[in-house]
Amino acid sequence: MPHALEWSRAYTGRLSEADRAAQAVRADELAARLESGIAAGEMPFLTMPYRARLEQDIDAVLPRVKRFRHMLVLGIGGSALGGRAIQRAFAPGQDGPNHVGPCLWIADNVGPGQFEALLGSLSPNETVVVTISKSGGTIETVSQYFLVRDWLKAACGDSWTDQMIVVTDVAKGYLHDEAQRLGLAALEVPDNLGGRYSALSAVGLLPAAFLGIDWQALLDGAADVARPLVEAPRAIASHPSFATACWANALMAKGYSQLIFFCYIPQWATYGPWFGQLWAESLGKDGKGSMPVPAVGVTDQHSVNQMFLDGQRDKGCIFLTGKETSRGPLFGDDIPEKWAWLRGKPFGCLLEAEALGTRMALCKSGVPLLHVDMADTGPRAAGSLMMLLEAATVFTGWLMGINPVDQPAVELGKRLANTRLGAPGYPAESADLAAYLAVAEQRQPF
Ligand code: PA5
Repeated sequence: MPHALEWSRAYTGRLSEADRAAQAVRADELAARLESGIAAGEMPFLTMPYRARLEQDIDAVLPRVKRFRHMLVLGIGGSALGGRAIQRAFAPGQDGPNHVGPCLWIADNVGPGQFEALLGSLSPNETVVVTISKSGGTIETVSQYFLVRDWLKAACGDSWTDQMIVVTDVAKGYLHDEAQRLGLAALEVPDNLGGRYSALSAVGLLPAAFLGIDWQALLDGAADVARPLVEAPRAIASHPSFATACWANALMAKGYSQLIFFCYIPQWATYGPWFGQLWAESLGKDGKGSMPVPAVGVTDQHSVNQMFLDGQRDKGCIFLTGKETSRGPLFGDDIPEKWAWLRGKPFGCLLEAEALGTRMALCKSGVPLLHVDMADTGPRAAGSLMMLLEAATVFTGWLMGINPVDQPAVELGKRLANTRLGAPGYPAESADLAAYLAVAEQRQPF
């Protein structure tokens, strides 16, 4: 059975079939845009023209990274979240007891104590470091790089450069220049492949390869979903990503300002934050967009679900399920009488039943719900899901009339932080900062 989108409860609540039809009429407009975008080389997340070179690069560098027990990734946002989702889904061993295989540590924050503790607990001689930044100039990542460079140098001397790999733009940026200057191994983040669309490049796949994950299967799964769009962009109307975009845009037009991503594949829970960043950074523009709300079944049935069911009627839901290949241990025949109906059943039936129960409860509460039903939960399936969601995000942005691949608003905070630290060249930000800090504070101790 193939993976499937199940639409029977999607156009409910304030949405109707008329809304579906109203969006679908824009298929030709999007098809033309897709066709020209592909022709201009602006859609590499979809066409993956970088695949052959990526395969060569990973094959070349893998023997070197495999010598180490630990990989430390320095990166943030799109340079971290995809890799982490893939790790947690397909190599979760290091979170459990008695782990003996390779370990991946992704440092995507600048908490000084946390970072110091991480470096303190890793042996530099057993660690290969991968610094990932498309722009090559992100302050969080570059500042980590400076510290880790010193940490490696102190332990390994001049040979520290053998333990540092860079994943960045092929032609420009500080990290690119640094790699050239020092002769560091460097893998590319291809042109036009923005951070949150880059998980299926070296950004997410070098760490995956280090962990022994079938990274080629992720690419194959992505290609399965992308192929019909790439080969026949004019047929976009029949593609599930377009249908998803139409639904998401219709939801926003009817005042649904939040989009729950309810993941009932527990080992894929970290795809929630990955999707959250993809959706929010791509679509939160010009006062538009819907807030992604990642949630994990069944855990979040006991936390935020009450709000989903009976809070403001402003939520749509993407509901993700999968077929567990292992359905877990069986309940014994000595289960107490009160629970006798569980006897002989596999533990996995609980997940399935609770997913159904929650889905029904959401539908009964009038939450428009798109059910994404995965036929299996292997890496190829995950690649397919990632491609579906990336394409749906881009198409939603096009329907909204915004640019889904930039993030101008978050740049301001970065410029202000740099200014605060004394970086030159930001006169407007300097003045803004002074004005902000001049406002008298109103502190209330507690
Ligand atoms: O999705 C994006 O473009 C961003 O979240 C970036 O990934 C993030 O800001 C890190 O940027 P860079 O990879 O240039 O260091």
